[in-house]
Amino acid sequence: MTKALVTGAAGFIGSQVAEALEARGHEVIGLDLRSGDDVRDRAVLDRLLPGADVVVHQAAKVGLGVDVGDLPDYASVNVFGTAVLLAAMAEHGVGRLVLASSMVVYGEGAYDCARHGRVRPRPRSSADLERGSFEPRCPRCGAGVAFVAIDEDAPTDPRNAYATTKLAQEHLAANWARETGGTATALRYHNVYGPRMPRNTPYSGVAAIFRSALEAGRAPRVFEDGGQTRDFVHVRDVAEANVAALTGGEPGTLTAYNIASGEPHTVGEMAAALAAQRGGPEPVTTGEYRLGDVRHILASPQRAAVGLGYQARIGFAEGMKEFATAPLA
Ligand code: UD1
Repeated sequence: MTKALVTGAAGFIGSQVAEALEARGHEVIGLDLRSGDDVRDRAVLDRLLPGADVVVHQAAKVGLGVDVGDLPDYASVNVFGTAVLLAAMAEHGVGRLVLASSMVVYGEGAYDCARHGRVRPRPRSSADLERGSFEPRCPRCGAGVAFVAIDEDAPTDPRNAYATTKLAQEHLAANWARETGGTATALRYHNVYGPRMPRNTPYSGVAAIFRSALEAGRAPRVFEDGGQTRDFVHVRDVAEANVAALTGGEPGTLTAYNIASGEPHTVGEMAAALAAQRGGPEPVTTGEYRLGDVRHILASPQRAAVGLGYQARIGFAEGMKEFATAPLA
């Protein structure tokens, strides 16, 4: 039995991680801002950390951010909070960290050009997006490119405040592991969905936005042409990945894993699946775009299968069927 401090234990993912740990007989100490405990508060950590074997760090400011006014808050909660946590772990001799990271550390997904092989397309220009040209192009010859699953060795390219702070958390955790001999595992979540997902806010992911719209009797508004690809992974699968990360890994290093379903779908397909389950209204494809959105990102689940023995169990059709009527938070 492991004693785990779960940060963000009252949140969408954290609460289901805590439940999965308890279901496996582990002891969970919950830390959450909602009950007045801040991960940036050293006194809170000094109270909760003694005796813990592992910290499962889910607490974070999430989403995309609204504008640069959000930068200090992202940096404070995600970067400073993790730094305070790691320093306290070192002092209390807690030698294992499981970190909730994100696929957003990669930026745009991986692409192959017929002439130039593996390439990293530049962010799409507003001129291209404006005229409905949504597909990234080869940065060398401008030709169309084919997207491929991204693996953990892909270069990182964080493109917003949230992404930047998630990558910073990984770097800080790697520093901690190196200096203390601790074992750090970063779980790069793809698009997590499922029961208790927070409702539509400026910080919500697309699955929650569509689900909230349908509940209100409004049509999901699908941006671009709906052909953007994501890997939607169910929150209970994500929770199981956290359980799997309690063991293994290499002392002194951070190992990163994609946590995905391995079953990519387009945003248009996701909207259609949810709308069908609820009996409408039908999604509308609007051609709107958000500058900075990536077009396709899908994951290779290979390394997590080998290193963690993790494999998603809840398929797209089954998961979306449940999510269509599951309670939101
Ligand atoms: C999302 C999360 C990110 C998280 C990542 C991996 C947000 C805002 N983004 O990134 O924090 O790390 O998953 O879990 O929480 N779209 C529509 N209609 C809408 C809103 C969005 O079609 O009403 C489209 C977007 O244009 C985009 C796609 O849906 O192409 C996904 O959007 P979103 O879920 O917001 O962001 P991700 O980049 O997938």
